[in-house]
Amino acid sequence: MDLKAVKVSEHVYWVGAVDWNVRNFHGYTTSQGTTYNAYLIVADKITLVDTVKHGFEEELLARVSSVVDPSKIDYFVSNHAEPDHSGSISFMAEKIKPKKIFASKMGKKTLEAYFDFPVEITSVNNLEIIDFGGVHLKFIETRMLHWPDSMFSYLEEDKILFSQDAFGMHLACAERFDDQFTWPFLAKLASDYYANIITPYSQNVQKIISAFKEMKLELNMVLPDHGPIWRDMERFGKMIDLYMNWADRKMKKKAVIVFATMWHSTEIMSKTIEDELSQRGFEVITFNTEIAGRSDIASEMIDASALIVGSPTLNNNLFPSISDALIYLKGLKFKTPVAAAFGSYGWSGESVPQIAEMLKSSGCDVVETVGAKYKPTVEILHDCRVLAEKVADAVDNYFN
Ligand code: FEO
Repeated sequence: MDLKAVKVSEHVYWVGAVDWNVRNFHGYTTSQGTTYNAYLIVADKITLVDTVKHGFEEELLARVSSVVDPSKIDYFVSNHAEPDHSGSISFMAEKIKPKKIFASKMGKKTLEAYFDFPVEITSVNNLEIIDFGGVHLKFIETRMLHWPDSMFSYLEEDKILFSQDAFGMHLACAERFDDQFTWPFLAKLASDYYANIITPYSQNVQKIISAFKEMKLELNMVLPDHGPIWRDMERFGKMIDLYMNWADRKMKKKAVIVFATMWHSTEIMSKTIEDELSQRGFEVITFNTEIAGRSDIASEMIDASALIVGSPTLNNNLFPSISDALIYLKGLKFKTPVAAAFGSYGWSGESVPQIAEMLKSSGCDVVETVGAKYKPTVEILHDCRVLAEKVADAVDNYFN
């Protein structure tokens, strides 16, 4: 391969890989692909910060080779052991035989569980500073943002933060810097990323970012492991504010309706509920789970205060795509305060109580349920409007 690195600062080059084709990132629909960012620090010693997903080794090697002979790399630093960043680390270690590989204590354990290495991994302590050939990296533990091993590295001389997954987004692109895109475009992709990857760890995010702000590190750039590099620090300040808002679960008067339908009965009920909530001033987003992906639903849940779920009964159960969406949202721990369940059935009618139970087990307050036998009658559609009214009142009470 003949690929070039991108110079980022006096000592740092981007040497990562672009994955234009990935559409399923462990269940998260990545409709715009992604990048696996890796970085090379070139000083009196050469250091590789993070690697790329397995399958992209040649791309990484080609970009490194455009700067230095890869065999000259002295050190590896692993800020995050998830295989999209470590999947080629043992291949690279076998090929290069670096003098040392640095990771957090949990990073060492995780990497050693996943891979075999020709050199022992050196664990670093929180706030430890190490000389990498005349330049210095300060390591900052960011445990559970979003894995136990996760850490930031701060290159003191260039005032650069390597932030691993934090502040990243899934976007395959030929551009490397944030100022080559509009802010709304990046903010939406970062929001989708937070919703689908980081939401369950929001308490940690608040603590980590508060502690990070206290450090008052001077920043020229922030280099995440996915998507563009932040070099507009005013924008990065806005991104930090967004992270704090998302972590604080700032919600709007917004309802997400999620439904599946067999013969349109549940769909008709959904439309009535949507209509009533809209009449009551709600922002409403509706998803048919037979068409929309679970991660598109999660992306909209980031600021929603109500979740309303509908399903037909199929063989005494929920529709499988509704079950999939509910399990995914439960894992993401959105803690949506207000919820309701609806659905249709022919003879047994288990879906609505099953939805209600799953919503309750996710921590939601289920304010109403409605079930329709075969098709929604005028009375049932009236009940759907009552359901929407109860959701609206509960949301108003929550905010007041
Ligand atoms: Fe991009 Fe948590 O891996």
